[in-house]
Amino acid sequence: MIAARHVSKSFPGVLANQDVSFDVSAGEVHSLLGENGAGKSTLAAILTGLYQPDAGHVELNGARVALKSPRHGLALGIGMVHQHFRLVSQFTVAENISLGDRKQNWILSTKKVEEAVREIGERYGLPVDPRARINELTVGEQQRVEIIKTLYRGAQVLLLDEPTSVLTPQEVTTLFDSVRTLASEGKSVVFISHKLGEVMDISDRVTVMRDGKVVGNTAVADTSREELARMMVGRDVDLSAIRATKPAGAPLLEVRGLTAKSARSHVSDASIVVKAGEIVGIAGVSGNGQRALAEGIAGLTPLIDGHVTICGTDVTSKGSIAARKAGLSYVPEDRNGTGLAPSLSISENMLLTEDLPFLVNHKSAVAKAEEAITTYSIKTPGASTATRMLSGGNVQKVLLARELGHDPQVLIVSSPTWGLDVGAVEFVRSKLNELRKEGRAILLISEDLDEVRALSDRIYVIFEGKIVMECPGEGADVTTLGLAMAGARA
Ligand SMILES: Nc1ncnc2c1ncn2[C@@H]1O[C@H](COP(=O)(O)OP(=O)(O)OP(=O)(O)O)[C@@H](O)[C@H]1O
Ligand SMILES: [Mg+2]
Repeated sequence: MIAARHVSKSFPGVLANQDVSFDVSAGEVHSLLGENGAGKSTLAAILTGLYQPDAGHVELNGARVALKSPRHGLALGIGMVHQHFRLVSQFTVAENISLGDRKQNWILSTKKVEEAVREIGERYGLPVDPRARINELTVGEQQRVEIIKTLYRGAQVLLLDEPTSVLTPQEVTTLFDSVRTLASEGKSVVFISHKLGEVMDISDRVTVMRDGKVVGNTAVADTSREELARMMVGRDVDLSAIRATKPAGAPLLEVRGLTAKSARSHVSDASIVVKAGEIVGIAGVSGNGQRALAEGIAGLTPLIDGHVTICGTDVTSKGSIAARKAGLSYVPEDRNGTGLAPSLSISENMLLTEDLPFLVNHKSAVAKAEEAITTYSIKTPGASTATRMLSGGNVQKVLLARELGHDPQVLIVSSPTWGLDVGAVEFVRSKLNELRKEGRAILLISEDLDEVRALSDRIYVIFEGKIVMECPGEGADVTTLGLAMAGARA
């Protein structure tokens, strides 16, 4: 149905796609796997018309097409759901769907669209209230709106860039049911993900990319997770969990009755203790108060109520510098907003959270950046590259390198492996385990239940700003956790 033929695309200093050939048949779910910076998003962008290839071309139903823009791609039946949704939050579902549809009179069409949203929702198992405003919807529902939007415009090919990273396990099951229905009707689905279990579960075929080239193509029935991991990184990968062996020590992070607000995030009366040598997980669907909790602890937002103690120092509402001085490092979820300055270089970003004046430390920053590029295998032409030029996963690596480099006693990490390839996930997990072994206290905020379960000694579940459940990490049950994350009590 859609194919890339000998496609090449380069950016300054980077060959993002090199002679890439890739095709998806009607009714097929085809996964695109690869390390961070391997060129997956670039290929997807070429297949949807966002980028034009330097060499090679795209074919649609066997005929060569020159896609000029994503709008042009969509008109030809190619739809893409991005990791970051592109919806107008004050508008309703139906309004968002008619928006940008040039054929329609916007106001008159809303009624018709509402009808269509219901129909499409029913047919593909994507229920959503067409009159709801986007900001009233959960992330899972917003994703459904994005999918419905492309289907409403007649998409026959659907590209999903890491669609499951924002979903609860129950929502993943529902999404997969919808994907299967779409495929059974003859539509083609391109699924980009780093989660090997999901790739094995949903796809018919897998194409693996490394360094801009296709290194493998196989039917799922003929491969295994281990083999896919090996193809991606070119060596064996160990993703098994290593839990704490020593009993935990003194409490290093103590949070009592924390109530705070930040952006659109709100948390109330949260009490959490993390001891030396412990990883404590906060499981929850994003948008349930995690951000207010983390920023409240990190001194980035004043507390409405409650207390925070870091390594015995009371840092309640004393600001982020006081929290840092007391021993805290914070890896936020929002990489390009609060985490990094996207237009600054990798080495400049390394300095952002230092107290020393910027210029004084420039040399050491370059050295640090170069070291980070090596240890974290950051794919980039060099330390002076702006972080906005990096692929999603590589941006995350820069941030982690900087924050872990501070040698913190207490570390808050929000979705630390979100978007990372298996090699990088392995590295980050072993790093967190190492910090635990050295007696640091780690608060791990993540929507990825597998990750929370694999790493945490204890788990709290957060829902609508409240801690609704606490349990040991060992043997924690996915269904129970998933239900608690969705607000249902077992
Ligand atoms: N607009 C751009 N300008 C400069 N370089 C870019 C641009 N887009 C991508 N690149 C570079 O091209 C390479 C491939 O990036 P791409 O985003 O396709 O990787 P990816 O496989 O999607 O990785 P990830 O899993 O980390 O999202 C990377 O080295 C990236 O830095
Ligand atoms: Mg990408």
